[in-house]
Amino acid sequence: MSYQIAIDGPAGAGKSTIARKLAKQKGFIYVDTGAMYRAMAYYFLKKEVSPDDIPSIEKRCMEADITIGYENGEQVVYLNGENVNGVIRTEEVGNMTSSWVSKNPGVRERLTALQKELARTHDVVMDGRDIGTCVLPHADVKVYLTASAAVRAKRRYDELTAKGVACDIRQIEEDIVLRDKQDMNREIAPLKQAADAVLVDSSDMTIDEVVTAISNLCRGES
Ligand code: DC
Repeated sequence: MSYQIAIDGPAGAGKSTIARKLAKQKGFIYVDTGAMYRAMAYYFLKKEVSPDDIPSIEKRCMEADITIGYENGEQVVYLNGENVNGVIRTEEVGNMTSSWVSKNPGVRERLTALQKELARTHDVVMDGRDIGTCVLPHADVKVYLTASAAVRAKRRYDELTAKGVACDIRQIEEDIVLRDKQDMNREIAPLKQAADAVLVDSSDMTIDEVVTAISNLCRGES
């Protein structure tokens, strides 16, 4: 039996940094499900699929084989065998993903099946929005990781300014609040804390403190 750690929460709560560190510490694989949704959006963008063309969405969705692999210890997302890491983090792909791709039932069904299969065959730390509620309802450990919108905006602002990108912290916070709303209010698999998930608010915690807190929840892992 594989060991499953599910981490859900809103954008910018630090899920991927923490999940990656935790996976390394435990020797598990890290599965970034947001990257899988982004890869699907990228495929639709390439194939010029529009949000209201349901037959085309259904067809393209089944054509897209999206999986996670590792190159030099780094997670790589493959779309039909092609490494798409470099093209899925653009604003265009991000907006498409949150505004319609992640709301589509066919897309969710397809990616949920791929994610379940990864977790069946590997010990995983999987992060996303619906992991504890839909993808891995029987996960050994479930965490709902959050932080205030102001703290999340400040983290993003610091990250961007460190890269020399000019940005407006109020705009970043507005975008975060909008994305939370879209993720929490969609009809299928909305972002919410699973009844048996442990709430971790990282607003006043360091990355290492969060990793330790989650690690302490793991009992009897292989
Ligand atoms: O975590 P992220 O920002 O890369 O996720 C991109 C989008 O995909 C975001 O709008 C939420 C959505 N998503 C989802 O609906 N379900 C998941 N399990 C993971 C991400």
